[in-house]
Amino acid sequence: MCGIVAYLGQKQAYPILIKGLKRLEYRGYDSAGVALVDSEMAVYKCKGKVSDLEAHANGKNINGTIGIGHTRWATHGEPNDANAHPHYSESKKLVIIHNGIIENYASLKKEMIKRGHTFLSDTDTEVLVHLIEDIQEKEKVDLFEALRMALNEVIGAYAIVVMSKDDPNKLIAAKKGSPMVIGIGKDDFYIASDATPIVEYTKNVVYLEDEEIALLDRNEELKIFNIKNQSKTPYIQELELQLEAIEKGGYEHFMLKEIYEQPKSILDSMRGRINAAQGIVSLGGISDYETKMINAKRFIIVACGTSWHAGLVAEYLIEEYARIPVEVEYASEFRYRNPILNEDDVVIAISQSGETADTLAAIELAKSKGATIIGICNVVGSSIARATHAGSYTHAGPEIGVASTKAFTAQVTVLTLLALSLGKKKGTIPHSKFAQILSELESVPSKIETLLKKDNQIEYISEIFKNATNFLYLGRGCSFPVALEGALKLKEISYIHAEGYPAAEMKHGPIALIDAEMPVVVIATKGPSYEKVVSNIQEVKARKGKIIAIVTEGDVTVKEMADYSIEIPETDESLVPLISVIPLQLLSYYIAVMRGCNVDQPRNLAKSVTVE
Ligand code: F6R
Repeated sequence: MCGIVAYLGQKQAYPILIKGLKRLEYRGYDSAGVALVDSEMAVYKCKGKVSDLEAHANGKNINGTIGIGHTRWATHGEPNDANAHPHYSESKKLVIIHNGIIENYASLKKEMIKRGHTFLSDTDTEVLVHLIEDIQEKEKVDLFEALRMALNEVIGAYAIVVMSKDDPNKLIAAKKGSPMVIGIGKDDFYIASDATPIVEYTKNVVYLEDEEIALLDRNEELKIFNIKNQSKTPYIQELELQLEAIEKGGYEHFMLKEIYEQPKSILDSMRGRINAAQGIVSLGGISDYETKMINAKRFIIVACGTSWHAGLVAEYLIEEYARIPVEVEYASEFRYRNPILNEDDVVIAISQSGETADTLAAIELAKSKGATIIGICNVVGSSIARATHAGSYTHAGPEIGVASTKAFTAQVTVLTLLALSLGKKKGTIPHSKFAQILSELESVPSKIETLLKKDNQIEYISEIFKNATNFLYLGRGCSFPVALEGALKLKEISYIHAEGYPAAEMKHGPIALIDAEMPVVVIATKGPSYEKVVSNIQEVKARKGKIIAIVTEGDVTVKEMADYSIEIPETDESLVPLISVIPLQLLSYYIAVMRGCNVDQPRNLAKSVTVE
């Protein structure tokens, strides 16, 4: 979603803003803009990519050691030049960039139109900067105070930065519900939606808390207040993020790099948490809540998208090994249906970004009803990580490609550890099974390494099916969520319509779609439902559908029936999702590349969905 970058210091701001906006491109956006103050204030903005913005600003005055930049993901008003940020106030003395939604913008706008304001865009953001100036003039207060008063009037979520033409030594930033981080350099300041634009300049950062306002002055130290005007001491943290982690490192796309990183990211998710030889699994972050979890009446998993699919895998594992009933809910549905919750319920929120608005709202709702909330997040210090009672980080490292890959396998790894540790403590998993899965889990990274060596085989299959208009993905048991995930990956990045189904459900409807043009990807690995899946494949073959089967190494039966098959290393049935998802990620990657799609920034998608 929207990306924010701002700079105040001794260097030229424009190159820092442009580089920062490029680092934030992964979040998804449809227009971009910058504002700079030199002797005058200049605003350059346009629909399209940051490269379009560079072309637009080319040859114009881009000088200035203070500036703000933005990538916009359209909510209020279509993606066009006028709706792109920054937005001016009525007098054009102030400019603002904003991430989030001002929910009461319509009534505020109506009021200001009555008082003679004219608006140049359809955005809620423009209303906020008009309101700030309106208060400044009416109440005869300084910009900081006017902004503080305005924020007390708005309902909604925001991360904003405001700059004034009349005071090119100051930036004011504030946040509620949308993330914002401030980098403190030797003699300069950086502001961004996340640390990726900042990491190459400084490791000293302050994460703004909700309803905090930061005052950045060229000649002073960082000051922070809350919106009640109480002063707060900035908590300066050291960034752990490494620059290499957010660069492509020789890969053509971030998505491919992240697919290839999975042996390492899965290992990182397990590091220090298991010892197969001694039969130990421990998730330090939640150890204080383990008894609560073991005694819970049920778990409710809330998440969106790929994280929701990881939750579905966890449902199988937790019910099987810990014998605790699990419900998996779309966070967006859960939050609006007055769910029945009590103190014996444990809610597990899964999120890569830790910023997903629906998941955050589901957590707040569950908390208000007394449930215990456990977070499984990738981004350290994210809003969801902070909103939960306890949690485990997935340690997948920064995921830049919009389509989630390594975050999914890291989530499934941590959730597997959770199921095993609860099962062991409860005594619901036989000792031999526990030991077997644990030692299998340790070998998953090397099995994925082996599998990745076959990616030319997947590229070959992708070439054959790259022009298909529909795909069906089938799986049973914990391979069903993998089928959903495979279908989601394909539609996100290649724009081919794809659906995932439990294999047996096919005959209740989707079978009507099957003809000689329909590729059907079936996860048909060895396990208790293997024979059943074989029957489902027969049903597809009888209708001339084209089978692409994911099979266990050494398989004979399915390989003979399938049009194409990809062998994956054998593992315990409950760990198959960690391995079987890899060829599906690669299949969608290669198909998307062959169709000329923008793999890392698919159209209309955002990396962290901070609006509901
Ligand atoms: C799919 C994808 C999305 C996210 C979803 C939740 O590839 O990336 O479906 O999984 O938006 O995001 P997080 O996990 O950040 O809460």
